[in-house]
Amino acid sequence: MERLKFASAQDLRKRIQDEFIASQTVHPVVGSIIEGKATQDQLRGFGRQMWAIPKYNYAVAGGKVSQLQPLPDDPYGMGVPYDLKVQKHFLNIIIDEAGTEVFPNAPTHGHYELYLRFAEEIGIPREEMERVDIFLPQVVVAMESWVRMARDLPLVESAIGMNWINEIRFSKMGSLIETALKKHYGLSERATEFWSAHGEQDKQHSSIGPYLVEQYATTPDIQERVWIAAKRGAGIWMIILDTIWMEYFEKGRAR
Ligand SMILES: [Fe+2]
Repeated sequence: MERLKFASAQDLRKRIQDEFIASQTVHPVVGSIIEGKATQDQLRGFGRQMWAIPKYNYAVAGGKVSQLQPLPDDPYGMGVPYDLKVQKHFLNIIIDEAGTEVFPNAPTHGHYELYLRFAEEIGIPREEMERVDIFLPQVVVAMESWVRMARDLPLVESAIGMNWINEIRFSKMGSLIETALKKHYGLSERATEFWSAHGEQDKQHSSIGPYLVEQYATTPDIQERVWIAAKRGAGIWMIILDTIWMEYFEKGRAR
């Protein structure tokens, strides 16, 4: 098998930037919501399936913290020992996710709670959101892969696929969706806070990506693995949004 080749860590950073970030366009699901064209059923479908990401926020943020230092037998040497910048970054994400219910100085309520408020106001009761079978089969697979990435991959890989690639997307989408939810769907400030919080915080959460690549993706083996992780992160996002499009917009599924 031909191996992937990158001239340097900087080259890899640039190619991830071009391939997975700069070239991205607004997904039709997000486009429909932004324009106020999505029906209430479609908006609820989006609300149910996107829940896969915030629902497991502790598993994901905690999984990454477990990778903050390499295991003694870490075969790839991809941990990030004693890098205070990186450690602070990922511990701060936990504080943001957990919110003021756990850390009084956190910027907002916990993201889990904020999402439930959003869901409630678009007409999905909390009990339904807590049901095990709320997710479509494709989303179950995406969600499992999402949690596994955080738990199993060395931080330099999961941070690229998850924080860099996806939080940039989430941050752009967050601000656009917040505006649309108020303008076209009449949602309150309380119900859109999940989206405004992510517009802001995810910009900051994703900022660690380029630093990690340049600092730690310094061998051909690690560079190849980071590239695959970026692809995997982009794939999870595509599975969730494409599935929402197919099921709720094309097939007209009600729930
Ligand atoms: Fe969050």
